Amino acid sequence: MSKLLTVLESVKLSEEYLRKKGVQEPRANAELLLADILHCKRLDLYLMFDRPLSENEIKKYREYLSRRANFEPLQYILGKVEFYGMSFKVTKDVLIPRPETELLVGEIITSAKTINDKVKILDVGTGSGNIAIALQKNLKNAEVCGADVSAKALEVARENARLNSVGVEFKQADVFDENIFELGKFDLIVSNPPYVAKEKIDSLQEEIKNYEPIIAVTDNADGYSFFRRIADISLKILNPNGMLFFEISEGQEHEVENILNERGFKNIKTIKDFNGLARIIKGELG
Ligand SMILES: C[S@@+](CC[C@H](N)C(=O)[O-])C[C@H]1O[C@@H](n2cnc3c(N)ncnc32)[C@H](O)[C@@H]1O
Repeated sequence: MSKLLTVLESVKLSEEYLRKKGVQEPRANAELLLADILHCKRLDLYLMFDRPLSENEIKKYREYLSRRANFEPLQYILGKVEFYGMSFKVTKDVLIPRPETELLVGEIITSAKTINDKVKILDVGTGSGNIAIALQKNLKNAEVCGADVSAKALEVARENARLNSVGVEFKQADVFDENIFELGKFDLIVSNPPYVAKEKIDSLQEEIKNYEPIIAVTDNADGYSFFRRIADISLKILNPNGMLFFEISEGQEHEVENILNERGFKNIKTIKDFNGLARIIKGELG
């Protein structure tokens, strides 16, 4: 009978395999996949380098590695992701929450905490519910509603609210449909909309292009149609002094600032990420 591979041997082989396939950060991926199989933290692997893997563990590891080598995102394989200190379930029906979006959540929490009364918040294009749930969890005075056109995404969002013991109302609504106005009135609207222009889809990473829901990624137009429409809607469904927050992609700040300016938003502010890139735009109604 052949000797079973140890944790260290299998991590090294897997790292090499993923590197050859062109996967970024092959060592981290190899370790995170194995840690999931062994139900431990990545760092704990270092305490069990000599532990032999069972045949079942190797079989599962092979399956995970082959999916990752085909550029399936790590988070879809693991079925979960950390966001704002909470764990979120992710499936192929939802966009994987990104670290940049934590910055957006942090900015909203800072702004909303200055309001003493109840704050009604709408998260447009809620996906896995990450923004809505993180806001509800961290703002005692908030009542958050998450809306999305995708019924399957909303199922995941509702499950995430349950998993994180948070009460958020999730509703199906299409931004471009009149039924969006049935959601009611809000003090704060937030959206991380599909903002990749149609012409840029081909240049996206394989992981995004081939696995993430296309309706979460692109507006199939110039990349600004959701910003225009959500700004239009906000004029009607934001209460006086209401605030609008957008996550934007690199280089979109001037056009999105124009969109808000043209519609009369005041105190328009752009917030940069840790790399100095403008990633958030905020505007207020007078
Ligand atoms: C970029 S994802 C954002 C997901 C999540 N809020 C986040 O920040 O990680 C955009 C979301 O908009 C939703 N969406 C796409 N078209 C829509 C529409 N016409 N009306 C409402 N939501 C839409 C997608 O289903 C997707 O969940």
